[in-house]
Amino acid sequence: MVISAYLMGSVSSAVLVCRLFGLPDPRTEGSKNPGTTNVYRLGGAVPAVLTLLADMLKGTIPVWGSYFLQLPAIWLGVIAVAACIGHMYPCFFEFSGGKGVATAFGALLPIGLDLGALLVITWGLVIRTSGYSSLASIVTISLSPLFVYWIKPLYTLPVAMLALLMLWRHHQNISRLLAGTEKKIWEKGSTSE
Ligand code: G3P
Repeated sequence: MVISAYLMGSVSSAVLVCRLFGLPDPRTEGSKNPGTTNVYRLGGAVPAVLTLLADMLKGTIPVWGSYFLQLPAIWLGVIAVAACIGHMYPCFFEFSGGKGVATAFGALLPIGLDLGALLVITWGLVIRTSGYSSLASIVTISLSPLFVYWIKPLYTLPVAMLALLMLWRHHQNISRLLAGTEKKIWEKGSTSE
């Protein structure tokens, strides 16, 4: 299940959706991140929503599958982390992947819709007030272990590990936010490194 989750996570939805819509490769354009936000910048809402759904399923399917196999909670956590590592370091796409936010969200959804709602509301409030998708993700990721501790304490440790990994994957966004050079979600053009 761990290997299957990694392989499923390694299917880069953003790159495939961009190819399908004749858009540039999200790994070389915009923020250079193969994820929903960058697909939105490059091609608008329809390809972005497709990318989001596909990335979420990469987390939800292996975690649901493991849940029905009645694997212990610790293994559900390991499988969720494996799916996100696949998304971040995809073996099918030169190990050049995204930041894991949508895949982690999909993996956490089976814990409960109340958790899903808290995560969506947090992300929505920050994006609405700031316009920065990365900041919305960073705040939501940082709060996710607290939300999980509150709703289902058993999963706090794997979610905290996942959160640390995702925060580290946002290190360039954090530098750009601090330097004032981060692009808002609707701003087009490539990010200079
Ligand atoms: O979830 C990814 C988001 O937090 C940042 O995306 O494209 O602005 O680096 P991007």
